[in-house]
Amino acid sequence: MRRFKVAVLVGSLRKGSYSRALARAMIGLAPETLACELVAIGELPLYDSDLEEPPGPPPAWSGFRAAIGAADAVMFVTPEYNRSVPGALKNALDVGSRPPGRSVWNGKPAAVVSNSPGAMGGFGANHHLRQSLVFLNMPVLQQPEAYIGHADSLLTQAGEFASAGARDYLDGLMKAFAGWIARTASAAAAD
Ligand code: FNR
Repeated sequence: MRRFKVAVLVGSLRKGSYSRALARAMIGLAPETLACELVAIGELPLYDSDLEEPPGPPPAWSGFRAAIGAADAVMFVTPEYNRSVPGALKNALDVGSRPPGRSVWNGKPAAVVSNSPGAMGGFGANHHLRQSLVFLNMPVLQQPEAYIGHADSLLTQAGEFASAGARDYLDGLMKAFAGWIARTASAAAAD
């Protein structure tokens, strides 16, 4: 059985983040074919192409590029900031996308999960992120979609899903993502 490495990126930096708790709970649902690991984005200096010049890019950029480069797929779990993607996550996309021709995102299958304590579940962030992923050439899982509302009551204090309905839905998403990653890998191998 092939195991695929999945880099999990969380769009929030704060300690008590609902997004990070959700990401952890979803990692707990991952089928055996997926090895999921959180990859931190909070220490990445803001993208500035001048920093690519000698003596070379900031070590935090190089480490991040290597971590994403080593992954087979990427799962984004993000809140919505002002109806869009948090700046830290957009910066991570930008850092990974450069230098030109050496984007670490290229061709990697992705899943997008947005969440919010509000009712709309971060729909705006979800679709703004998808817009960037088109340009980055990442085939994104289309269904099931995940706009998770009321994120503040989604999990128990212990980090478990408070309702079987939410757990089953996200379990289905993880299974669908595993299938999507495997199909994308077979299609790439057949090319
Ligand atoms: C927010 N929040 C928010 N929520 C939402 O549903 N739509 C939005 O457009 C915004 N905009 C927004 C901007 C900024 C700058 C902040 C800090 C927050 C509220 C947000 O969903 C809430 O703070 C979440 O708890 C953030 O996610 P984490 O940190 O819990 O993962």
